[in-house]
Amino acid sequence: MDILKIEGKHHLKGKIAISGAKNAALPALAATILCGGNFNITNIPNLNDISTFLQLLKELGAETDDTGMPQNNLVINTGKLNGYEANYELVRTMRASILVLGPLMSRLGKARISLPGGCAIGARPINFHLKGLELMGAKLHLKEGYVEAKSARLKGAEIYFDTVTVTGTENLMMAAVCAKGKTILKNAAREPEVVFLGEILLQMGAKIKGLGTSTIEIEGIKELKPVNIKIIPDRVETGTYIMAVGACGGELIIENTQPMHLQAVFSKLREMGLTIEEHNNSILVRKKGSLQSVDVKTMPYPGFPTDLQAQLMVLLTVSNGLGVINETIFENRFMHVAELLRMGADIKVEGNRAVVKGVKELTGAPVMATDLRASACLVLAGLAAKGKTSISRIYHLDRGYEQMEKKLSVAGAKITREKTRQHF
Ligand code: EPZ
Repeated sequence: MDILKIEGKHHLKGKIAISGAKNAALPALAATILCGGNFNITNIPNLNDISTFLQLLKELGAETDDTGMPQNNLVINTGKLNGYEANYELVRTMRASILVLGPLMSRLGKARISLPGGCAIGARPINFHLKGLELMGAKLHLKEGYVEAKSARLKGAEIYFDTVTVTGTENLMMAAVCAKGKTILKNAAREPEVVFLGEILLQMGAKIKGLGTSTIEIEGIKELKPVNIKIIPDRVETGTYIMAVGACGGELIIENTQPMHLQAVFSKLREMGLTIEEHNNSILVRKKGSLQSVDVKTMPYPGFPTDLQAQLMVLLTVSNGLGVINETIFENRFMHVAELLRMGADIKVEGNRAVVKGVKELTGAPVMATDLRASACLVLAGLAAKGKTSISRIYHLDRGYEQMEKKLSVAGAKITREKTRQHF
């Protein structure tokens, strides 16, 4: 098992380049199921979740050329697709495997997918994905922890999501592009990753209106064609490195990113006292002096993203005053609090609210990662803290951050990855 070792309180200086977005790359990979032919994908991040998804596609019969992955390039061809099952082992390690459901129903009219089950941050049900497919004519039944779905050609339907669901919107968009007739998705997700998937489908020949709004209309067509795809930058990785400056001070230029995707985050961080200058595909962030506490409520896009909630909490632990975080998306996304308390933070959790009272400084400690974004939060805490921090179970981090310790150490952080025989 690898661990990260960090010595805190070293200012950051220099540049960090952002990788392609994990949560844009996964639905893009799923979309390659919709038709045969070569999809040339560039700027795809080298992450464990991406390799897990590629393994799933290969098990379904996809041919891939991943010799270009060190340069973040990949070619996929699902012309010989012959499988329709995503097994429990795979889905358990990466719940986004559920994204093959919609495209398999569109391409083959059948799928057998393990129910993802819950994870550290919540129950993560997929009832809206399933309800939408049933409205489109799929016959589903749950057996031994799997959902088995069958249908002749799906038909268009009007689908209302009780709560905004990112992968639910993505799954049903992909199910609808070749369905018979029109599908209307109401209360649809507006995340940039959803818009990005929609733009890929449009290039493939789909007929879609309303991308980026909460009502998406899709007119089914018969035939799609493969396209070249360049993955958009990762807004969560971008926000994480901006907050790293907030954690330990200094000045960073963050390159290959899309400032437009982070407006809610910028307004909160500017309110706290960070200087953020936006350029067309880069951001300059500087911290001078101490930060002021703010209140934050996580919301679907364009609101403050839940995937940056844990990272913002680190800044609040050492800001002046009291900040309240209201986590409205997931029911258990405060797993990082216990570890921050061990580093001297003052946080009280009441249900889905966390009240964070700023303290003078955190102190380094051995801590354990519990989920992807909590592990990023612990890295930021280690950067902010006095003394040394070691973080175990960083396989969580490797799911969603490409070479995090390399990117940070080039920018002045004292952070190294070490192998250890211990199983924490
Ligand atoms: C996506 O997860 C992201 N993952 C998550 O990022 C992100 O936190 C989340 O959206 C919210 O922005 C990917 O895109 C691969 P949801 P998803 O469906 O689609 C409830 C990360 O760290 N819900 O938008 O699974 C659900 O329980 C990950 O990169 C239902 O009740 O999230 C949650 O409370 C973590 N029934 C809320 O909706 C459903 O059928 C939002 O979930 C679907 C969702």
